[in-house]
Amino acid sequence: MSLLMLEDVAAGYGDTDVVTGVNLQVGDREIVAVAGTNGAGKSTVVKAVMGLTPRLSGSVVFDGHELTRIPIEKRVSLGLSYVPQVQNTFAALTVLENLQVVERVANRSQRIKDMFDLFPALADRRRTAAGDLSGGERQQLAFARALMSSPRLSVLDEPSAALSPALTAQVFEQVRRCPEAGAAVLIVEQRARQAIEFSNRGYVMDSGRIVLTDTSANLLSNDRMAQLYLGQH
Ligand SMILES: Nc1ncnc2c1ncn2[C@@H]1O[C@H](COP(=O)(O)OP(=O)(O)O)[C@@H](O)[C@H]1O
Ligand SMILES: [Mg+2]
Repeated sequence: MSLLMLEDVAAGYGDTDVVTGVNLQVGDREIVAVAGTNGAGKSTVVKAVMGLTPRLSGSVVFDGHELTRIPIEKRVSLGLSYVPQVQNTFAALTVLENLQVVERVANRSQRIKDMFDLFPALADRRRTAAGDLSGGERQQLAFARALMSSPRLSVLDEPSAALSPALTAQVFEQVRRCPEAGAAVLIVEQRARQAIEFSNRGYVMDSGRIVLTDTSANLLSNDRMAQLYLGQH
């Protein structure tokens, strides 16, 4: 059975569902990308996994647990971590404090050392308030916070947003290494081609639905898909 399994999920806000009929799976230590145009519903799908959409129907099973019955705060202890697309750090806290306040971390000081090894730029800025970091540094901090708890599944919503190509490459390199560290990844990315290249499989969304799913190799060699959703290269 897959680590994460969404079956016929519909989710949204207010009176309407903005995504419907979503079937999606992530296997143990698998990297799965979600691509699609702006407004397609990618963030809504990952918010549905985290229990953050006011409307939700269908089934979301993580590691055998039906998540829709589990309070949001308990999901972290099941091994889920989440980096939202925006406001993913505490602006008034320093880099170090942002790591110190992550809940449910065994060997906290060792994990903080690990994160500073992974993200040397953060080590240099440990006494700086997150609100004073550059966009790139803040994204790295958000990702470091997610990795602190050694999750089984890390859910990342556009971790490369606002990053330079060089910093994007650095963050993607950390994502690529998650399976070695025991974590599967569900990643939403605008830089879809790059994300699919380091993923095992991908889903493409359009207008609130999954319109295509395949192995990364097949998605990348699908001309129509490349033209519509991946941009030309
Ligand atoms: N908090 C919200 N309240 C109401 N509508 C929302 C909210 N967030 C997103 N939407 C709407 O849901 C649709 C999908 O948005 P989103 O999931 O953020 O797309 P994506 O991440 O693919 O760009 C859009 O039409 C958007 O306007
Ligand atoms: Mg989004």
